[in-house]
Amino acid sequence: MSTLYDFKENIKKEELKKIADKINEGGLVVFPTETVYGIGADATNSKAVKKIFEAKGRPQDNPLIVHISNLEMLKDIVYAPTETEKLLMDSFWPGPLTIILKSKKILPEAVTAKLDTVGVRMPDNDIALNIIEASGKPIAAPSANVSGKPSGTELSDIYNELKDKVDIFVDGGKTNIGIESTVLKVDENNVVNILRPGKISVEDITKIGLEVKLDKHIFEDVKENEKVESPGMKHRHYAPNTKTILLEYSDEDSIMINKVKEFKRNNENKKIGIICFNEHEEAYKNMGIMCITIGSKSNLMEISRNVFSDLRKIDDMDLDICIIEGVKKEYIGTAIMNRLIRACEYKIL
Ligand code: TXA
Ligand code: MG
Repeated sequence: MSTLYDFKENIKKEELKKIADKINEGGLVVFPTETVYGIGADATNSKAVKKIFEAKGRPQDNPLIVHISNLEMLKDIVYAPTETEKLLMDSFWPGPLTIILKSKKILPEAVTAKLDTVGVRMPDNDIALNIIEASGKPIAAPSANVSGKPSGTELSDIYNELKDKVDIFVDGGKTNIGIESTVLKVDENNVVNILRPGKISVEDITKIGLEVKLDKHIFEDVKENEKVESPGMKHRHYAPNTKTILLEYSDEDSIMINKVKEFKRNNENKKIGIICFNEHEEAYKNMGIMCITIGSKSNLMEISRNVFSDLRKIDDMDLDICIIEGVKKEYIGTAIMNRLIRACEYKIL
């Protein structure tokens, strides 16, 4: 049985101590970050880290992100960062950015999946920072979800799938950003390679004067035996059981709406649903299409916050096909599209 602590209103000191003790005993704690919930354990405790992999059913070759609450903690884990890496930390930490750094190989092999690098981030969430600080340990934490399901952005989405597998759940309400951190690696020419897009965008990194590249696997499936920069790229990502198809974004509402109209005409006998912008709901309802609204087309943050919980709703709608409206690939929109294209298994309308 797991215990639930409610920190939505405030962080309770006595309960914080119990959480820290549990981490130090090698337990598992589900806690909020600004991106998604994480399943955390003491990153220095190999047994505890192995429990994370069991709880998630996570492939052993997929390394975990290590969460820190201050820069001092970095020194024990990785070699000194370069000037470019320091600039990224100064600019975006605490925040939704994971930097792949050269590991001192002090952490258990399970954390890094035997790679010579380790992904580190300092989350921008008071509950997360307090838990790390109180336990005095770097905390290894993947997203809180069973492998193959969308990351959890509120406890109600993940409680049932994890309740028998973790010791403590900490409720911090719905997470702010809703999709996982940007994962990047700086190469020998000081070019920033984005391996997984997130809230910290190409535009944000360009603004601080750095050269940025998006890895090609952000929008392309990995072919058999192809080498990847990040093990997470080759693992199956969440796709609903229902057939889903991604509708490409257009600034012109009528272009998107007419494509759906035509699709509906060509699939007259099928039960069609759509995850759509608020602005398009009425048009689709008038066509007899079931709608889940994801947010306003002009508010990428709203869409980002809703995307995973909306994807979880698709299979309950009893549809033959679900269309998902795509967003513009700019700022966090690049990250949203990266998650959506995987959910649609690269099928585009
Ligand atoms: O926002 C987030 O990053 C959330 C919260 C809980 O912090 N965590 C998260 O963890 O999304 P996870 O395990 O679901 O995703 C970590 C990703 C995986 O795709 C993994 O392959 C990649 O980061 N990764 C971790 N360490 C790496 C390394 N040393 N080299 C390359 N990729 C790495
Ligand atoms: Mg994950």
